[in-house]
Amino acid sequence: MLSVEALTCSFGGVMAVSRVSFSVQRGELFGLIGPNGAGKTTLFNLITGLSAPTAGRLRYQGRDITGLRPHRIAGLGIARTFQNVRLFGELSALQNVMIARHVRTTSGLVGGVIGLPSARAEERETRRRALALLELVGLADRPDERARNFAYGDQRRLEIARALALEPELLLLDEPAAGMNSGEKRSLGGLIRGIRTRLGLTILLIEHHVPLVMDLCDRIAVLNFGELIALGAPANVQRDAAVIEAYLGDEV
Ligand SMILES: Nc1ncnc2c1ncn2[C@@H]1O[C@H](COP(=O)(O)OP(=O)(O)OP(=O)(O)O)[C@@H](O)[C@H]1O
Ligand SMILES: [Mg+2]
Repeated sequence: MLSVEALTCSFGGVMAVSRVSFSVQRGELFGLIGPNGAGKTTLFNLITGLSAPTAGRLRYQGRDITGLRPHRIAGLGIARTFQNVRLFGELSALQNVMIARHVRTTSGLVGGVIGLPSARAEERETRRRALALLELVGLADRPDERARNFAYGDQRRLEIARALALEPELLLLDEPAAGMNSGEKRSLGGLIRGIRTRLGLTILLIEHHVPLVMDLCDRIAVLNFGELIALGAPANVQRDAAVIEAYLGDEV
């Protein structure tokens, strides 16, 4: 599904990502962990085209996507959520999801605004699908509530619905459990698992909450100072001496 090949990104003197290589199989739930500043978000920014790599290549479904613009990459089926929630706070939950879906409809925003009949039918379909996504993430009871009025954990769920509205095949989640209490984290774990099985997605998950990552992921990559220091099944990563030293020390 995704192949990361000697990917490198430096900001001035800082090697945010340094010669990182791994590949993600279709249908896999792949975890990405590491200390603060390890380069995890930068890696997501590279995959989604928000940052350009200094060196290395990215292949998605066999196609070279290195350096493509973000909207092209989204159009190819890669969607993400952000570490710092990015929603339209003044718009309703439903509107936030519907706007994202316009990328996938033919008449787009303009057709909708000028009220073409085809656009109206499409709008109804967009609305129906957006409601289904709110249902999937557990927010169907408040479609008309402004995004900014939702609790933090619910805003994160809303962001997931918005990313899913792009109908991705590859979904990148940047710390979706941040700011959630332990009950919310457990239920988020169930949601992520459900998305993978029900929608058949491939998922890359950045998450600091180690028990959640260990429980959910098929394989885990560990970054430290921009470098890949371990990659494998959760049980093996958890036992890796370099990982324990760099990251898991307190957790073991
Ligand atoms: N746009 C930028 N300009 C300059 N330096 C940057 C930029 N983005 C990231 N960095 C630096 O790159 C390094 C990796 O940052 P990144 O945000 O990818 O880490 P992270 O693993 O996501 O950390 P966290 O767990 O805190 O979210 C850090 O040293 C950071 O300061
Ligand atoms: Mg980050």
